[in-house]
Amino acid sequence: MSLVYYKRFRMELDFRTARLPEPRLPDGYVWTPWRPDRLERHAWTKYRSFNAEIDAHVFPSLSTHEGCLRLMSEITRREGFLPQATWLITQLHSDENYEDAATIQGLIGTVDRLFRSESIGAIQNVGVAPEHRGLGLGRLLVAKALWGFREAGLRSTFLEVTANNAPAVQLYRSLGFRLVKTSYKAVEQEVAGVGPMWR
Ligand SMILES: CC(C)(COP(=O)(O)OP(=O)(O)OC[C@H]1O[C@@H](n2cnc3c(N)ncnc32)[C@H](O)[C@@H]1OP(=O)(O)O)[C@@H](O)C(=O)NCCC(=O)NCCS
Repeated sequence: MSLVYYKRFRMELDFRTARLPEPRLPDGYVWTPWRPDRLERHAWTKYRSFNAEIDAHVFPSLSTHEGCLRLMSEITRREGFLPQATWLITQLHSDENYEDAATIQGLIGTVDRLFRSESIGAIQNVGVAPEHRGLGLGRLLVAKALWGFREAGLRSTFLEVTANNAPAVQLYRSLGFRLVKTSYKAVEQEVAGVGPMWR
């Protein structure tokens, strides 16, 4: 086993200066709001979105369905869990036949500013299943959560993203998120070679 260090960006968006896109979905897709009995749908969509991606190496829970179920129940039990920033995008095939295409969850956390602490939205695990990518769903999903945070009275939001995840970094930049901090996450992994690796 070796230690692999993944570079991570913390990015923030201030609603007072941002223009949030209207979250209008393409034909055939609908917003599915959070309900506790939809936890498994979120977990399955999260698994399909992440299991073959870089974040499944950074956070091994994202590489298995069981891990995603655990993660979803942890997130939704947290004190700051925010249902109005937690959504599925669902593709409707017919009245009874549908497929979830994307998932997002939101939490309210706190951040230390000069001389005070402030409530801030925290975006968790933005995931679009591979066959639904490139249609604008990722942008709409983040926008929908941002509207939810704003309605909850927050002024800003943040997320963390693996620096090498170019599509995600590009998506967040295009919405107005700015890099505020860089960190490294150490993960034990089986890799060829000896000594720490940086990614
Ligand atoms: C990142 C992700 C959510 C993007 O979803 P998507 O629905 O394909 O994204 P959209 O179609 O809404 O694209 C929005 C913007 O993202 C950026 N983007 C999306 N895919 C991209 C790619 N392959 N390369 C570069 N930029 C890309 C572009 O800026 C794009 O805007 P544009 O179409 O005007 O150029 C999706 O690829 C995904 O789920 N990846 C795996 C899970 C993951 O890593 N999530 C992020 C965790 S922090």
